[in-house]
Amino acid sequence: MGMHGAISSLHHVFHILPGFPLPAPNSRTSLQILVRGCFLLGLVQLSFGTFIASYGTAQVFSLNGLWDIRNAESSIKLEGHVPGCVHTALSARGVIKDPYYRFNDVAYKWIAHDEWIYSKAFKLPPEIRGLQKIILVCEGIDTVSAISLNSILVGKTDNMFSRYTFDISKLVAEENLIEIKFESAVRWAKDKRTNHSYPIPPACPPDVQNGECHVNFIRKAQCSFSWDWGPSFPSQGIWKDIKIEAYNVFHLDYISYVPVFDKNASQWTVVIESVFDVLTSNPLPVLVETIIPALQINQSLELTINPGRKVTEVIVKIHQNSTIDLWWPNGYGSQTGYELIVRFIYEKQYIIENATKVYFRTVELVEEPIDGSLGLSFYLKINGIPIFLKGSNWIPADSFQDNVNSNKLQILLQSVVEASMNSLRVWGGGVYESDEFYRRCDELGIMIWQDFMFACALYPTDGWFLDTVREEVIHQLRRLKSHPSIIVWSGNNENEVAIAQNWFAVPSNMSDLYVKDYLTLYIKTIRGLVLEMDDTRPFISSSPTNGKETVLEGWLAKNPYDQHYGDIHYYNYASDCWDWRIYPRPRFASEYGFQSWPSFSTIYAVSVPEDWSYKSNFSLHRQHHNFGNEQMMNQVEFHYKKPSNSDALQQFQDTLYLTQVMQAQCIKLQTEFYRRSMTEIVGGLGHTMGALYWQLNDIWQAPSWSSIEYGGKWKMLHYYAKNFFSPVATSSYEDREIFYIYGVSDLQEDNHFKLAVRVYKWDSLVPVCERVTEELRFPAGSSGPIYKESVPELLGRCANTTRLDSVVVFYLLHKDLPYGVQNWHFLSSLKDAKGLLKPNITVWITQENSVYVFTLVTCSVAPFVWLDVCDIPGRFSNNGFLLAEEQTNVYFYPWRPTTVEDLKKSLRVTTLRDTY
Ligand SMILES: *[C@@H]1O[C@H](CO)[C@@H](O)[C@H](O)[C@H]1NC(C)=O
Ligand SMILES: *[C@@H]1O[C@H](CO)[C@@H](O)[C@H](O)[C@H]1NC(C)=O
Ligand SMILES: *[C@@H]1O[C@H](CO)[C@@H](O)[C@H](O)[C@H]1NC(C)=O
Ligand SMILES: *[C@@H]1O[C@H](CO)[C@@H](O)[C@H](O)[C@H]1NC(C)=O
Ligand SMILES: *[C@@H]1O[C@H](CO)[C@@H](O)[C@H](O)[C@H]1NC(C)=O
Ligand SMILES: *[C@@H]1O[C@H](CO)[C@@H](O)[C@H](O)[C@H]1NC(C)=O
Repeated sequence: MGMHGAISSLHHVFHILPGFPLPAPNSRTSLQILVRGCFLLGLVQLSFGTFIASYGTAQVFSLNGLWDIRNAESSIKLEGHVPGCVHTALSARGVIKDPYYRFNDVAYKWIAHDEWIYSKAFKLPPEIRGLQKIILVCEGIDTVSAISLNSILVGKTDNMFSRYTFDISKLVAEENLIEIKFESAVRWAKDKRTNHSYPIPPACPPDVQNGECHVNFIRKAQCSFSWDWGPSFPSQGIWKDIKIEAYNVFHLDYISYVPVFDKNASQWTVVIESVFDVLTSNPLPVLVETIIPALQINQSLELTINPGRKVTEVIVKIHQNSTIDLWWPNGYGSQTGYELIVRFIYEKQYIIENATKVYFRTVELVEEPIDGSLGLSFYLKINGIPIFLKGSNWIPADSFQDNVNSNKLQILLQSVVEASMNSLRVWGGGVYESDEFYRRCDELGIMIWQDFMFACALYPTDGWFLDTVREEVIHQLRRLKSHPSIIVWSGNNENEVAIAQNWFAVPSNMSDLYVKDYLTLYIKTIRGLVLEMDDTRPFISSSPTNGKETVLEGWLAKNPYDQHYGDIHYYNYASDCWDWRIYPRPRFASEYGFQSWPSFSTIYAVSVPEDWSYKSNFSLHRQHHNFGNEQMMNQVEFHYKKPSNSDALQQFQDTLYLTQVMQAQCIKLQTEFYRRSMTEIVGGLGHTMGALYWQLNDIWQAPSWSSIEYGGKWKMLHYYAKNFFSPVATSSYEDREIFYIYGVSDLQEDNHFKLAVRVYKWDSLVPVCERVTEELRFPAGSSGPIYKESVPELLGRCANTTRLDSVVVFYLLHKDLPYGVQNWHFLSSLKDAKGLLKPNITVWITQENSVYVFTLVTCSVAPFVWLDVCDIPGRFSNNGFLLAEEQTNVYFYPWRPTTVEDLKKSLRVTTLRDTY
């Protein structure tokens, strides 16, 4: 809302001025007449409680709010909120329980198999009906529906990602009834498959997901039919705003603002593209005023808008003498935006005004030869600076998008930057995210690798399918391209590799057909549109892909996982994750990960006591990845003792904890390996410039690869990410009995640190030895070795300790003060460790303003110290750490007000030694 909310879709351009007088709640409908120069003309409450806002030449009448909902047989009738879906409506009215509770994803399958009708009666004021053209605007319909107004069909929808508008000028009356009749997405997709002349695999998800089939035939969130981390809830509903707009003369359908830097002229321009519906039969002459106050720009020009919804382009040149503060990714600088106002004026009285923030930045994908390595680099330059992308992969934050409110987005995206990340990949099996999502990413400096919404499947390319995809892509490009946060468009998730490696075992006589479909959809159609509509960002055809090499190989590389090119995805649950030799050394790691369970307090909300064991039906049911629970325990057992508490519930909670320990440590070691590889070439491989682990967030309460649980609670991994992604970091590894420590710096200038290396015996808080290095140079944007010592030598000079009875702790010193957090190096598996004691940690909690200080006192060295305040929302400054000092302070930042008393009551402290 407000001046800064406006990017390109119209429902963000209401300028609710402070102090604008609202009519008394019961006042009759009144609408003010257009006044020149005032873009907010009225905000009026109707007797239904519907708000009208109007701007420029258009009047807007929102249809959001309560609607009547019934099923096909009218055996269920209820009221539900729009935007919303039938599941949340049923749950809000108590017709069903929490869909996420226990086994309800299966119990409630009938909802998506039934067909629902949304209807709403409304009065349309004469001021709206009096205008020349009246349209129904649906920002998002999920998914297959027939829309009628006053019993006359106005149109049909079959794409959740498109924006639909229908001309209803001739259909509206004073009293109206709108009805949206949905079809079951599940049945419709199956029907489309039946009608298609050949199979498009995969037909169905694995049984373990309890999902639905043929999702690739419908343009709906692909994970809504189930995924290996999520339930099947293919809901029906109106998931975005719905409204009526009425206007004379002309109407703004879309507007986008894209700053472009001309290197030759060394000059910025802002390209403003708008799409109008013009009601006159002749081209419409308009005056366009563009103002960027902070850059002293006040430009007026005359142009004509042609009928036929063509793109009208206005170019604003930024004075060459202006100093522009650029938009930078998190960690590289600020995210300065410039207010821009544009007015389209026809005959002095018809005015359309739009305001936004424009952000100046350039992005390049660099693929060029590297000394000492075959293949090509693959990295991004923002404003000319090479950037190592640090982050994760984003999935839909809920099965029901109406549950993803502002607060939820704020917590998730704030948690991204708090974990030292600078990027997210919006993965292709979910949804193009909300305007608010990208606006927040713009403001936080989160770079978005944006997939188009196709994942892990082959897709049809019949006429109807390509037509609907074209509309979807055009809409999304127009809606999203003003966002500086989006830095890459990517055609799909894993569909190139699915063909290259024949994931779906297609018979060889069919493969040409699928290759042709692939090229038609992603290259001819989607890439064609991107090049035409937004060539200011790189387009890559898939993830993983080999970039330029994929292009040379006809867009389908033989091996999209080639470490010499592009990005890779890498998963390996069978090998020991502590062994760095198992990891590839790619140019860019865009997916890798390990599963873990959420904490007990998160599971508790959707389960009953009989569910609370690792082998329960519930634990099996929530695991959607074949053998996932076994894989986690196998990985746990490489290095940790089996939990053996005699209390069954305690043992279950310890098991959940151990899966988080395992995940955090595995992804830490793998990510540290990628960061060490930033400026190295080893055996012809390296120059790694991206580490996006799978996955950031959860869609429900279940085991998954996420680092943040459903509800926002940080898993141990997310605390680790805050440290292993920090701009200056250290990490260790061993190669043939030699112990190395590397330093890595993403800072833009050289820095100097000393390194302290200590050895502790597990049973003592007094270090047995310590060595502090001379000042070491950390060159800008670089990684390299800063310490090397043979392990026998190290142990020998440290009171003849052994691998089993000791641990290495190291940290940096800046001007002789500790800098950042300490890191550690295990010399043996912890299941073999000797002398590990129960640490009997005591905790004092005090309050300092809105922050709580947890003072920990320990009796011995303790690995993986985990502070859990159960369901009190917030995050600690550090967690899951190795505790080697007798006394340590940890800070808790609550997301809602809390008290010392509540924190004391909720606090549970777990360390590794407590699990056996
Ligand atoms: C499938 O084809 C039949 C016959 O042409 C048609 O009636 C039906 O609407 C089609 N189904 C879908 C989902 O397009
Ligand atoms: C910039 O200059 C180069 C070389 O003179 C030329 O090839 C290119 O077309 C120019 N680009 C623009 C945008 O004018
Ligand atoms: C822009 O220029 C016009 C005249 O060219 C002037 O009337 C208007 O006040 C200026 N607007 C701003 C914000 O400077
Ligand atoms: C910058 O240049 C523009 C014209 O190119 C001029 O109008 C403006 O006064 C200049 N501003 C400064 C601060 O020199
Ligand atoms: C491929 O072979 C199968 C059986 O061998 C046949 O049913 C199918 O029609 C063939 N497809 C094409 C495209 O030739
Ligand atoms: C677990 O599920 C199976 C199959 O649905 C059922 O037979 C069994 O009784 C369930 N066990 C428990 C403890 O509920």
